[in-house]
Amino acid sequence: MGKDRSIIIGSDHAAYELKEKIKTYLIDMGYSVEDAGTTSEASVNYVEYGKKVAAAVSNGHYLKGILLCGTGLGMSMTANRFSNVRAALCSDIFSAKMSRLHNDSNILVLGGRIVGDILAFALVQTWLDTEFEGGRHLDRIQSIEH
Ligand code: RB5
Repeated sequence: MGKDRSIIIGSDHAAYELKEKIKTYLIDMGYSVEDAGTTSEASVNYVEYGKKVAAAVSNGHYLKGILLCGTGLGMSMTANRFSNVRAALCSDIFSAKMSRLHNDSNILVLGGRIVGDILAFALVQTWLDTEFEGGRHLDRIQSIEH
């Protein structure tokens, strides 16, 4: 399967259940999904899973990733330390859309204790369906790296 239909996903225990549901949702949409863990509701450190997903996007193995923790805060802090990663913590559809249009976000971060299942699915769908606008926004995102 092409890189554009492949996605890597990871969560900690606080969002394990939502990660599993999003995985199924993605597979049903025809995506190939790499699950970086965690694998149960046993307490873990979100940083381990955030680093796995962010590294895979940073080094180009995956074009897109999804990260989840309780609030999404720890995952976004972790992921945005990696070069070429633009992780967007979203809990509204407008931000999910704009994070693609203007910021070319390559990791969507969700808070499993913030969003319900239906909103989470809609956020994922919007994020995946929206293309980067490029143009003036390209220079801006490139300048994040320097
Ligand atoms: C786990 O209790 C919680 O701290 C974690 O899921 C996340 O919200 C951290 O930012």
